[in-house]
Amino acid sequence: MERRRWYKDMVFYQVWPRSFKDGNGDGMGDLWGVLEKLDHIQSLGCDGIWFSPIYPSPGADCGYDISDYLDIAPEFGGMDAFRALLDAAHSRNMKIVMDLVVNHTSDEHEWFRKSRRRIEPYTDYYIWRPAGPGGKLPNNWDSNFEGKAWTFDPVRGEYYLHLFAVKQPDLNMDNPLVREEVKKILRFWLDLGVDGFREDVITYISKKDGLPNDHIFPIYKGMRHYNHGPRVHQYLAEFKQEVLDHYDCFTVAEAPLVWPRQALRYIREEGGQIDMMIQFQCQCADCLFTDYLPTKFSLRKLKRAYSSWQNRLRGKAWNALYLENHDHPRIVSRYGSEEYWAESAKTLAAAYLFQQGTPFIYQGQEIGMINWRPESPELYEDVQTRYNYTHSHTKEPAQKRLERLWRSSRDSARTPMQWDGTENAGFTTGKPWFSVNDSFRRINVAAQEADPDSILNFYRKAVALRKRLSCVRHGVYREHFRLSGRLYAYSMTGQKERILVLCSFSSRPMACPFPRGFDRKTARLLLGNYTAGAPEILRPWECRVYGWDLS
Ligand code: GLC
Ligand code: CA
Repeated sequence: MERRRWYKDMVFYQVWPRSFKDGNGDGMGDLWGVLEKLDHIQSLGCDGIWFSPIYPSPGADCGYDISDYLDIAPEFGGMDAFRALLDAAHSRNMKIVMDLVVNHTSDEHEWFRKSRRRIEPYTDYYIWRPAGPGGKLPNNWDSNFEGKAWTFDPVRGEYYLHLFAVKQPDLNMDNPLVREEVKKILRFWLDLGVDGFREDVITYISKKDGLPNDHIFPIYKGMRHYNHGPRVHQYLAEFKQEVLDHYDCFTVAEAPLVWPRQALRYIREEGGQIDMMIQFQCQCADCLFTDYLPTKFSLRKLKRAYSSWQNRLRGKAWNALYLENHDHPRIVSRYGSEEYWAESAKTLAAAYLFQQGTPFIYQGQEIGMINWRPESPELYEDVQTRYNYTHSHTKEPAQKRLERLWRSSRDSARTPMQWDGTENAGFTTGKPWFSVNDSFRRINVAAQEADPDSILNFYRKAVALRKRLSCVRHGVYREHFRLSGRLYAYSMTGQKERILVLCSFSSRPMACPFPRGFDRKTARLLLGNYTAGAPEILRPWECRVYGWDLS
């Protein structure tokens, strides 16, 4: 079957299920809650949902540690709720995308339990190595979350590799039986009717033969031996040819540390193995590679990332566009301004929604949720945050360390969705599994429904406009005023129309320039975040989308 390209016309909504909406009052978000809120998602103009993992899991990494790939966790509603949701979504013409997490499993998965006891055929499902002389680790790699990448298992008497948490042992993808399991998982969900997969850290699945030591310096020690490893394309092609190509589905790969040139090896429309890629460069305008190495926000860095992906993929591959997800703090608190909260949230939306690609909107982004800032470090849940907190900057004053968490933790964006101004932000009638962000009385869906100029309504207008404009889907991207550190300006030029998007990233007014060749007099203002004013001035965090008819 020819793989359809319907995903190019879509806008996805990401549900991080624990914190979206609790439907049964036990304090934990679930699929009944999602069913209740399908109207909300659809009202944004979103026609697809990507679910962060909803499979059974001990929850060591909030579901990214899976103990059964062929079921839905009972706390989320089990298979019955999932089937109901899938039907409801499909009857609205909405697509459902599952998270495929196959770089690693939970250590409580049956495969791992058997593997550590050397029960066949599971003995080589994971990456086991004996201890070196004196109990030495097999190599010097670091995990991404918790210290060294190796943990000794007393049952088997060997070390196992885990690139993430101790409870997330890496699968041995070189074992053909493991790849058969992956295909079985894919087929299972596709046969049930799901429409695609977001593939978790999929660029890590093939490790360099011999698992060699890395140099002493890199921050992610070992990464160059497992990111984009030797057989990653071969394995992905196998999944595609044997399974994915036989279904009307698509895939989006999560890929830390990837540049367009490498990305094209995966996502080129001719000969690629997947359809889109979630890159991290657009997340590094205020940090070095990771939120834990913060730097001052640089608009130029952000613009370089945006433009390089737009320019290099054009005509060859398709972009995945996003501002937020469950792995990064809230964007208004990072790239925007909490002082100009509504203005900057809207400007950020305009900065990415009119680029070419398929946009994703993360729950809460559409109402401009801001970072959670708890009083105490004890309240953090995330495994990566906890490790970082106990192991770095330990000599700094307590308040400074806490502020580091506010700025860098994934938990800053994982608090319950703020539905209204009542207790627990309308997320649950029970006791929420996680703290609610104090900002909920001011920032919530109900309040923004009532306000035509809210961030929520801006998202609706922007998504609707995007879908009307064929130049966004088919046009040519161009960046203007590249050197400005305060203004992001880009145009999309199609056959019949052209748009110019102007976004101020500044709290001070500035002159509103027009690039050469763009006629101010004939420009129509299609969208903006201020009511009428002086057209020659951009006010703090103002954005405007102008259009021209070329036909
Ligand atoms: C991805 C997920 C993240 C998870 C990690 C390990 O980066 O997005 O949430 O912790 O992989 O599975
Ligand atoms: Ca629940």
